[in-house]
Amino acid sequence: MRVTMRAVHADITTLAVDAIVNAANTSLLGGGGVDGAIHRAAGPELLVECRTLGGCATGDAKITRGYRLPARYVIHAVGPVWRGGGHDEPALLSSCYRRALELATAHDLRSVAFPSISTGVYGYPIEQAAPIAVSTARGVLASGASTSEVIFCCFSASDLAVYERLLG
Ligand code: APR
Repeated sequence: MRVTMRAVHADITTLAVDAIVNAANTSLLGGGGVDGAIHRAAGPELLVECRTLGGCATGDAKITRGYRLPARYVIHAVGPVWRGGGHDEPALLSSCYRRALELATAHDLRSVAFPSISTGVYGYPIEQAAPIAVSTARGVLASGASTSEVIFCCFSASDLAVYERLLG
């Protein structure tokens, strides 16, 4: 199967893909940033479903329907708060991408779009986060995931430039 990975400069709530990934917190009850944008665009039913999930551990992910979003599903991943890099942040961030793609495969999803998890409110430097995102996704896709299209959805031109350098 041909697998493609690309970066785009867009608002992730506008992407008509099988699943968009949310950069959530452990409560899964919404927040600011991309979490707030996704809940606003999906409508109130998203929170109703999130309330049934019992939260989510850092480094893990859970899946819901997409409701009013053009995406069919939302995969809620909880990234690590950046505390200098000595608190397992790289492994926890990598785990977010791996778990999200595992869930996508479990639901036989073909296209998945990621925001730059943890690089906003959680303070993870994009120059350190983006290589983890790309290498983790590349590894999971090489192992035969159902996902054949991964989109890194950047909210700024500078973030896009970081991903485009990595994707070559
Ligand atoms: N589409 C795509 N990317 C977006 C959008 C959007 N509509 N809005 C923000 N982003 C980008 C940010 O610019 C950043 O690059 O998503 C990335 C992640 O930033 P945050 O949303 O702040 O998420 P994060 O750093 O993981 O912090 C998570 O913030 O919103 C709260 O509830 C959330 O507590 C959690 C924390």
